Amino acid sequence: MDVMTAILTRRSEQKLAGPAPSPEEFRYLLKAASCAPDHGMLRPWRWLLMSGDSRDALAAALAEDNGKSLEAMRAKTRRAPLLATLVFSPDPVSPVPEWEQMAAVSAMTTSLMLLLHARGFGSIWRTGAQLDAEPVRKLLDLDQPERALGWLYIGTVEPGRPTRRRQAPDVGDRLKIFSPV
Ligand SMILES: Cc1cc2nc3c(=O)[nH]c(=O)nc-3n(C[C@H](O)[C@H](O)[C@H](O)COP(=O)(O)O)c2cc1C
Repeated sequence: MDVMTAILTRRSEQKLAGPAPSPEEFRYLLKAASCAPDHGMLRPWRWLLMSGDSRDALAAALAEDNGKSLEAMRAKTRRAPLLATLVFSPDPVSPVPEWEQMAAVSAMTTSLMLLLHARGFGSIWRTGAQLDAEPVRKLLDLDQPERALGWLYIGTVEPGRPTRRRQAPDVGDRLKIFSPV
């Protein structure tokens, strides 16, 4: 799949079943995604892969935080066979400002989503207020200044579902040829 097609046909997928990439395949794609622009090549991120019953530990942390039932949270964390938790691990002493480090994480993650899509996998980046909740931070073993930036829910889109090719928006009003006055 060429890059333009990948960009125009990738969509956030709500309904994902198996198969998901194996840890080895995820690692292979991540290696490529880590070639995204990254000021200082700090790679200020790490991923935690959750699948099978290990997703229940996350469900328990979410339930502990919001007081909802474990079953409800289990249903949430079982919306895809693979939950890849994205952790932002900024380098606090680097001269590269933190916002630039976060921009690099975003560039890497976008590349990863496109690579997953080109490989036949669907994904959606999910976030939410609970990312900073103490039980979640504890489960993910986050130390300051680390921060969870969400989960990539990854799997396979149900067979036969038509490709939701994007109509690229007209962005002409966001573009100006600069001419100093
Ligand atoms: C940083 C970030 C956080 C997001 N969080 C959520 C989320 O919590 N729930 C959700 O349904 N989608 C989430 N999304 C997906 C966007 O809603 C989605 O990309 C947008 O609706 C456009 O749809 P598309 O990806 O199919 O083009 C998130 C996307 C990004 C980049």
